[in-house]
Amino acid sequence: RNMTVEELENRVRAIKERLGEELFIPGHHYQKDEVIQFADATGDSLQLAQAAAKTTAKYIVFCGVHFMAETADILSTDEQTVILPDMRAGCSMADMADIHQTERAWEELQAIYGDTILPLTYVNSTAAIKAFCGKNGGATVTSSNAKKMVEWAFTQKERLLFLPDQHLGRNTAFDLGIPLDKMAVWDPIANRLEWEGNIDEILVILWKGHCSVHEKFTVANIEHLRKTKPEMNIIVHPECTREVVSLSDYAGSTKYIIETIENAASGTSWAIGTEMNLVNRIIQQHPDKEIISLNPYMCPCLTMNRIDLPHLLWALESIEEGNITNEITVPKDITQQATAALEKMLAHA
Ligand code: 13P
Ligand code: SF4
Repeated sequence: RNMTVEELENRVRAIKERLGEELFIPGHHYQKDEVIQFADATGDSLQLAQAAAKTTAKYIVFCGVHFMAETADILSTDEQTVILPDMRAGCSMADMADIHQTERAWEELQAIYGDTILPLTYVNSTAAIKAFCGKNGGATVTSSNAKKMVEWAFTQKERLLFLPDQHLGRNTAFDLGIPLDKMAVWDPIANRLEWEGNIDEILVILWKGHCSVHEKFTVANIEHLRKTKPEMNIIVHPECTREVVSLSDYAGSTKYIIETIENAASGTSWAIGTEMNLVNRIIQQHPDKEIISLNPYMCPCLTMNRIDLPHLLWALESIEEGNITNEITVPKDITQQATAALEKMLAHA
């Protein structure tokens, strides 16, 4: 028999009550409302990594995507169990860089640049890639501290390899005054560097990965709005392309977008370039402002949306039944090296 939404919610509520302090449910801002209503903490990926490092709960049921649950497992103790309610909740960007491609790229880049490169990875990456960065003196970054971390990287080495999101890497380096002709792109499929000009002058090597959600916000969307609604403020996530970021009024992490709209005056108008669930939530929370999605068709993250109420209940029931499903366990050696990369970031956050 199919349960009604009310029955599902009641069951989740009852399990949460019974497990009490033993259970912690972090929820990323891109999660569905039906799941977010049960989150003990909501946040962007940095805030959730910090929350995971702090909680003493025995069970962490992570409402987000696979790499976030891996990060929670890396930052929690061996006695804590991390569960991802649906294993199909991956991230297409994280899938664009695997460890074998990364090691192969590293070899080629070392042949060109010797020991002058530091690897940095966006947290939207596999645990193995975080470990690779840790092992090679590098660190992780998130969209809210990318600037600080790239600045730090240049205190360590002459140039950096930024994985796996070329757009966050390019936007951050550009903001720090690095010209576009000092950036090259590493194509992991062709296994080669794409650059123009003098190869020795390249300072930032960008992995050719992207977010399939944020790439859907386009220059055409912005041009259309500027013509039809010139009063609109345009705010986007730095996973959008350089062209889109440069034509927008504001760009920043999920947390920055939320706070900017919260602090904006009543009656102002905003077009937001980020994931659909968050845009809808911001619209509901600010009836005093005119808010739309920069792309009128809205852009859902399909994998974030795989975590739904039935999967959350299923994960919680598996705890009570003593038969835990979808446990996320990062191997010990990877955990150790990935911790080194994550801790450098958390120390700067
Ligand atoms: P933040 O949570 O760091 O803003 O990242 C956005 C994102 O795409 C998460 O998958
Ligand atoms: Fe990955 Fe983009 Fe979805 Fe975030 S929004 S989980 S980066 S695909």
